[in-house]
Amino acid sequence: MQKIAVLTSGGDAPGMNAAIRAVVRRGISYGMEVYGIYHGYAGLMEGQIEPMNVGSVGDIIQRGGTILHSSRSEKFKTEEGQQEAIAQLKAKEIEGLVVIGGDGSFRGAQNLADKGFPTIGIPGTIDNDIPGTEVTLGFDTAVNTVIEAIDKIRDTATSHERIFVVEVMGRHCGDIALWAGLSGGAESILIPEVDFDMKEVTYRLLEGNKRGKKHSIIIVAEGVCPAAEIAQMIKEEAGLETRVTVLGHVQRGGSPTAFDRMLGSRLGAKAVDLLREGQTGKMVGIQRNRIAVVDFADVFSGKHSIDLDMYELGKSLSI
Ligand code: F6P
Repeated sequence: MQKIAVLTSGGDAPGMNAAIRAVVRRGISYGMEVYGIYHGYAGLMEGQIEPMNVGSVGDIIQRGGTILHSSRSEKFKTEEGQQEAIAQLKAKEIEGLVVIGGDGSFRGAQNLADKGFPTIGIPGTIDNDIPGTEVTLGFDTAVNTVIEAIDKIRDTATSHERIFVVEVMGRHCGDIALWAGLSGGAESILIPEVDFDMKEVTYRLLEGNKRGKKHSIIIVAEGVCPAAEIAQMIKEEAGLETRVTVLGHVQRGGSPTAFDRMLGSRLGAKAVDLLREGQTGKMVGIQRNRIAVVDFADVFSGKHSIDLDMYELGKSLSI
């Protein structure tokens, strides 16, 4: 394989640039020509394909976002869109593609692989919701961003003796809430995977109050419900005032942690190795801290499960 390309698709995630850098430099080290596709599948269909060199990925490993930009494309879900994409790749004689993104991006990659175009996926999303890998690119940085915010919120919560309800991202997955809530010392962590009992949440607040604890942090994953609804329930259930913070897209930005830079570098290089070996329709992920290669079909039929032991640990430590 002499010519390969890389694109980023869906919600951006810190560490994507490290992965792009690894794809480009690994490819070049094998004597390949490597192309960058701008604006994800939308850009691919329009032929936004540019040659990259060692220098074009210099000074990016520490940067958040993606230098290739990203998008979500409805058109690429159609047969017409996929044919246009393949025509653009063939026009440049590109023989293999690395797709960095989440579940939706992998479905697009699978469509290309089904049409005979070699494609490998790298799980890039802050949500950590991809089956077949224990961690996704960007998750660690997002958790650290949330912890930083929780620490700051705790300062003002302590000063004013307030209860804060903090909403975090994650789509349908509670991992960001669980990891950040546990390591940020939250009093309650509400995640979509486990039904919560508002009576238990307020009991903890009131018991804490009795012991003289006047400030609390409740983390709610966006997949549960808006934080404002939780605040309303607390008011109705226990008559307690709260303040609400929705962290939003701040969680998607920022310089990637060392972990995410390493992860992007490892997965990016491995993706190129797989294309070179003639593999296709697969994701490179991490299992037991080792690189794992998983068929897209298994990714789609799998289910990412929350670590219930960690959830219970969070509950037992926030007394
Ligand atoms: O998948 C990443 C993510 O940030 C989710 O956590 C969130 O639900 C969604 O993307 C937000 O998407 P958008 O940036 O399109 O609003």
